[in-house]
Amino acid sequence: MNATPDHVLDTLNSMASYLALFKNAFPNEARPVTFENFAKAIEAYEATLIAPAAPFDQYLEGNTHALNDQQKSGLALFIEKGCFACHNGINIGGQAYFLFGVMKKPDASLLPAADKGRFAVTKAVGDDYVFRAAPLRNVALRAPYFHSGQVWSLKQAVALMSEIQLGAKLSDEEENDIVAFLNSLTGRVPKIEYPILPTRTNTTPKPSIDR
Ligand code: HEC
Repeated sequence: MNATPDHVLDTLNSMASYLALFKNAFPNEARPVTFENFAKAIEAYEATLIAPAAPFDQYLEGNTHALNDQQKSGLALFIEKGCFACHNGINIGGQAYFLFGVMKKPDASLLPAADKGRFAVTKAVGDDYVFRAAPLRNVALRAPYFHSGQVWSLKQAVALMSEIQLGAKLSDEEENDIVAFLNSLTGRVPKIEYPILPTRTNTTPKPSIDR
């Protein structure tokens, strides 16, 4: 959000109700408003944002009617074609890093030069354009796709994955079936009650846009 750690701490420290809330959340700490605790608080909140009971979950639990025939075909294709080699586990992905373009290099527009993925962390040549295999839960709600955010249609994302990761062109019907299956990964999204946030004071820094 274009804020430095100092800016975040100045903002929190300027509002007495945040000090009280942090004291409450981290009762054993003399100075609970730290950047690390700020991150922990966001992380603890994000950990509640789970979306259970997707049709696919219900299917795995034994409700064979939870998926329609097209979604079942899509699931079979997802396994047979090899998508699940990279997208697996409880979140249908998110477990490992892979080259984006194992079989075929994607278009330059999908590989912005400024974002080389894991390379930025490891500096290892082999990590150029290596990314986490995205978890596919709720993927139908989440366009645009890929790290570049350049692909806006899920069908196009599926076609592209097959082409560049598996070296196989899917038929139109296969693409539609896999998209139908991916739609079965949409769970019950949490209902969120928005809190009334502490109000700014005279010492609260203004958002800074010129850094
Ligand atoms: C070799 C590993 C691998 C295989 C096989 C693979 N994927 Fe992926 N998938 C990835 C990676 C890595 C990303 C993230 C790429 C990025 O962020 O640019 C990804 C991203 C995606 C996305 C975008 C998700 C998002 O939120 O942006 C979809 C959809 C997807 N894969 C579906 C599939 C389907 C369907 C198949 C089979 C046809 C498949 N994948 C096969 C590794 C793989």
